[in-house]
Amino acid sequence: MNILGVSCYYHDSAAALLTDGMLVAAGEEERFSRKKHDNGFPFRAIQFCLDSAGIEARDLDYVVFYEKPLLKFERILMNSLAVFPTSSTVFRESMVAMFDEKLWIKSQLQTRIGVPTDKILFAEHHISHAASAMFCSPYSDAAVLTIDGVGEWTTASIGHATADWNGQGENRIKLVRELRFPHSLGLLYSSFTAFLGFRVNSGEYKVMGMAPYGTPKYIDDVYRLTRVDDDGGLHLDMRYFSYHRSTRHTFSHRFVELFGPPRQPEAEFFTLSTHPTRDHPNWDERTAEQNQKYADIAASIQRVTEEIMLRMAASAYRQTGSKNLVMAGGVALNSVANGRIMREGPFENVFIQPAAGDSGGALGAALYAYHVLLNQRRRFVMEHAYWGKEYSEAEMAEAIRSYGVPYEQVDDTEKLLDRAVDTMLAGKVIGWFQGRFEWGPRALGSRSILADPRSEAMKEVVNTKVKFREPFRPFSPVVLEERAQEYFTSPDLDKQYPPRYMLMVSPVASDKQDQIQAVCHNGTGRLQSVRRDWNPLYHRVIGKFGEATGVPVLLNTSYNRRGEPIVNTPDNAIRTFSYSDIDQVVMGNFLVSKPEGYQQALPERKVELD
Ligand SMILES: [Fe+2]
Repeated sequence: MNILGVSCYYHDSAAALLTDGMLVAAGEEERFSRKKHDNGFPFRAIQFCLDSAGIEARDLDYVVFYEKPLLKFERILMNSLAVFPTSSTVFRESMVAMFDEKLWIKSQLQTRIGVPTDKILFAEHHISHAASAMFCSPYSDAAVLTIDGVGEWTTASIGHATADWNGQGENRIKLVRELRFPHSLGLLYSSFTAFLGFRVNSGEYKVMGMAPYGTPKYIDDVYRLTRVDDDGGLHLDMRYFSYHRSTRHTFSHRFVELFGPPRQPEAEFFTLSTHPTRDHPNWDERTAEQNQKYADIAASIQRVTEEIMLRMAASAYRQTGSKNLVMAGGVALNSVANGRIMREGPFENVFIQPAAGDSGGALGAALYAYHVLLNQRRRFVMEHAYWGKEYSEAEMAEAIRSYGVPYEQVDDTEKLLDRAVDTMLAGKVIGWFQGRFEWGPRALGSRSILADPRSEAMKEVVNTKVKFREPFRPFSPVVLEERAQEYFTSPDLDKQYPPRYMLMVSPVASDKQDQIQAVCHNGTGRLQSVRRDWNPLYHRVIGKFGEATGVPVLLNTSYNRRGEPIVNTPDNAIRTFSYSDIDQVVMGNFLVSKPEGYQQALPERKVELD
């Protein structure tokens, strides 16, 4: 039985294909279209899924959409009536979008994919999130927590899920508590994302990255915006917000009266904590003070978010009594909060869907249809994130040759990896392109940039050569799973799934912080742990670096230039290599280098900012 899940028209479009309950392929449309956060119809991702299974659209038994458009329409209509007439613009603009695409999703799925309407099913948005976590986890019984900006009406849910592996159990997801629009932890966080000068739905990481440079002095002010009950339920004071009245503004003038003027997008960021000796070229005392206030506000909303998520998790435990927790929804990408839930929360085990945002809804919708609507037993556990497209040696060779860059083919894997390690030991930066690309927003060793993490200076090197990121955005450590516990102090790292998917931040052991300076952010790191079974080549290159240096850790960041989606094809990868100062690419068995004095293919370095 072939089931295609589809999510689109809101944030990140994606498609995922199950055959007899086993995941065959999953990918986000942005990887193919090269348009970051592409939310259009995922033609290319769907084609990729069908090709991976060797089937055509007529072989699909069901197509499942990840939300219910009519419920969403109802929410927009009801909200607009409630705040009329100030909502007239948002209503008009939303309606155009709805009538254009969303409301007619059934006929679009029918005509664009070519399946009859009786094969098209719908799952509710938060049910899709819940299923994407539960039916990818290894558990038979779990508490469910989904948290995002908004789906149809729901903005967060607590539930209880069970799974049937052997005909003895029941596949069931029961949501027992819901938070409804406009009261939303995701939208509260996004309001601060916008206030701090970042793009909503993509800049939330930057708020999290800025937070450690501040102290949470404004917690009381954040709590003025919302009441929070013992279960983590929110009741926002809507006088501080505009997102229910506007498609462009998230916070109101009252919010500005409370927190002061918003930060200008792309303003330079320096404070006494980033530059203790005031050595920034544009140092200015007043700007530094103002930046410190922004960092303090970031620390405050981050802290409040953690407190609310901990309350939600505690409530999920009280209501279910399960020792397992599964999480999804965009807010479940808040890796600092996730780390605290794992360390301080009541659960023994935590699973978080790596594509926790709306792209993951495509997979969740398909899993929900298969297990709950069609009542089929479970067979699948998501042990790794490598569900994207892979490329042949011939395709790699063709891309490399078309750019005229020097390369060697090194068929002895040990030698290939030794060369890669030598490059990194020389202080250089590697593009790492292997196998199927990752599902979800993180680079996990298929499309990664790797470097020596030991000295603080490497952050600057990677930023100057390729990433051009703001100083408060940390780079991440990747560590051998069997050595993770030496470097990070969270318990059971080798047994839990979130570190596998770079979904949690952990304190770094105090005696190791000096060894991994480039990936240690105020004593913490958003680690990825690697098990040999799931990615032997990646595991081996980290192991070899460890043999050479005593430190089985690398700096890992996504293989893309700022503002671009992570690379997909060999052509994307070599193009990024030639337009940046990446020193060497390890692509399949090819080592691609730059000759001495190599000039970038284009002088242009800045691209649209993310
Ligand atoms: Fe969502």
